[in-house]
Amino acid sequence: MINVKNLTKRYVNVNAVDNISFDVGENETVGLLGPNGAGKTTTMRILTCFMPATAGTATIAGFDVFTDSLNVRQQIGYLPENVPLYLDMRVNEYLMFRAKLKNIPRRERRKKIDYCLELTGIRNVQNQITGTLSKGYKQRVGLADTLIHDPKILILDEPTIGLDPNQIMQIRQVIKGLGEKHTVLLSTHILPEVEMVCDRIMIIDNGKIVAMDTPANLMKQLKSSSNVVLEIKGDGERIKSSLSGIDGVNSVTWKKKGDINELYVEGSGEEDIREKIFKCIVKDNYILREMKRQPITLEEVFHQITTKETEEVSDNA
Ligand SMILES: Nc1ncnc2c1ncn2[C@@H]1O[C@H](COP(=O)(O)OP(=O)(O)O)[C@@H](O)[C@H]1O
Ligand SMILES: [Mg+2]
Repeated sequence: MINVKNLTKRYVNVNAVDNISFDVGENETVGLLGPNGAGKTTTMRILTCFMPATAGTATIAGFDVFTDSLNVRQQIGYLPENVPLYLDMRVNEYLMFRAKLKNIPRRERRKKIDYCLELTGIRNVQNQITGTLSKGYKQRVGLADTLIHDPKILILDEPTIGLDPNQIMQIRQVIKGLGEKHTVLLSTHILPEVEMVCDRIMIIDNGKIVAMDTPANLMKQLKSSSNVVLEIKGDGERIKSSLSGIDGVNSVTWKKKGDINELYVEGSGEEDIREKIFKCIVKDNYILREMKRQPITLEEVFHQITTKETEEVSDNA
């Protein structure tokens, strides 16, 4: 549904988007994840025909974003980074106004608006002046507007930014539900968000795609997936030296926690080292209270992938 090939956007002295290519399939939800200044908004603005690219091609449902912008706009619902609303209009009036602008036939307008009010959970504020709504509700009005012409493709730029934790959960639920029948491209710099909502993640940094995969595969890629945390009774230093001797163990650190030692064992490869650790503990007669694999988090993946250029990124932020 979304096809992007060698897309580049150059500003005076920076490639905001640098030769990126990707596809988003029908009913797929893809998360564009990246630090501030990575190029997420720029990518979305090109895809939604708000500005031209410097080079490359992009099509939305088969329509070229550069030559066929009218058709593209009909296919997409775009929620920009800062939701533009008319603050002195009532929610109902605003959505009616937007429905007219979007050429929804008069007879269907009321039904569509009611449907969107319901979907985004704002029926109870439909008669309120938009400007008096909380940030979370304003965001939902923006989302309702995005959905009103029933677009197949949703492009959502940081849809949960500035919301409180409850509102974030609610908006995520709405997006997750929409993802079942829509193609969704959403951007965020919040990791749990992509993990919860997206089928696939694209990590973008300095205008380049540095990783693209399912959340599970991204986490598998990293070798440190074989770390193990243990609680063992006994002489910490001695236990450490026993475990350090195991083939496949990279390093062991430990600290005392009451009458027990907590040990952190880093594996050197992808191999699951728990069985070797178990045998070593039995052989040396230590008392084991707990052993668990430390799964790598998306935070670590993101950090590992994007830290090479941390300085530059924080300059941009
Ligand atoms: N209108 C502009 N003129 C010049 N530079 C811009 C403009 N818009 C964005 N940039 C730069 O392009 C890069 C990407 O910005 P943006 O796409 O907004 O990133 P993100 O949405 O990932 O935070 C940043 O370095 C930003 O400073
Ligand atoms: Mg942005």
